[in-house]
Amino acid sequence: MHVLLTAGPTYEPLDPVRFLGNRSTGKMGYALAEAFAEVGAAVTLISGPVQLAPPTSPRIRTVRVETAQQMYEAAAQVAPAADVWVFAAAVADYRPAVVEYEKIKKSGETLTLELVKNVDIAATLGQTKRPEQFAVGFALETTNELAHALGKLQRKNFDLVVLNSLRDAGAGFGHDTNKVSVLDRAGQVLNFELQAKTDLARGLVQLIQSRFAISHA
Ligand code: CTP
Repeated sequence: MHVLLTAGPTYEPLDPVRFLGNRSTGKMGYALAEAFAEVGAAVTLISGPVQLAPPTSPRIRTVRVETAQQMYEAAAQVAPAADVWVFAAAVADYRPAVVEYEKIKKSGETLTLELVKNVDIAATLGQTKRPEQFAVGFALETTNELAHALGKLQRKNFDLVVLNSLRDAGAGFGHDTNKVSVLDRAGQVLNFELQAKTDLARGLVQLIQSRFAISHA
C-alpha cells in the first residue's frame, strides 16, 4: 500500500523575514506516517515547516515544503500512484496577494494586507480520485461539528473524515494527546477516546486499512 500524507502547517511569505502561519505542530501527521510504516505501507510524507525530527523509517520518504502551493505541487505528483491519501496538514486558506522583495518598513498606524485564496489541495485532488483510491481528511470545527465535517467529506470527496475536538482539554494543536471522531460516507460516527497521538495514529491506520480493504472486496 502506498500512502500519500500531508502534515504540518504551511507558511505563506509576506516579505523575506515574515510569513503567515498557524499553530499546527505536525505531530498527528508524523505519528500517522510512522503508524502506516509499522504496518508495512510505503509513505510519502509531504511536510510543512515543523520542529519534529524527520522520520527514520526507510518506508517513509519525506518531502519538505513551505507554502500551500508547494504542498499541492508535491502532492499532485504522488497522488495518481498512491492508494490512500491522508490530508492531515493545516493548510493556510489564504496567502498574501503580494510577496515583497524587501522587508516591509513600519509606517502608518495601521497596515492592511490583501490575501488571496490558496489552492484547496484535498478538494482539487479529490476531483481526480479513482474508485480504487481512498481519501481521508481532517476537520477542525467549533460549531455544528458533525454537519460541517460531513459537508467537508462530501465537498472534498473523502471516504473518511477525522473530526478534531477543540472542546476537550488535551486535544488538538500542540498537545501530545488527541481525541477525535471519525465519520464515513454513510454518516456513521466512530469515537476515539483521548489518547496519545501515537496510539491514536495506530487506531486510525487500522480503521483506514480495514475500510480500504472493504472498498476493494
Ligand atoms: N485542506 C487542504 N487544502 C486546503 C485547505 C484544507 O488540503 N487549502 C484539507 C486539510 O488538510 C483537511 C481538510 O482539507 O484535511 C479540511 O481542512 P479545513 O481547514 O478544516 O477545511 P476548509 O475547507 O479550509 O474549511 P474552513 O472553512 O472550515 O476553514
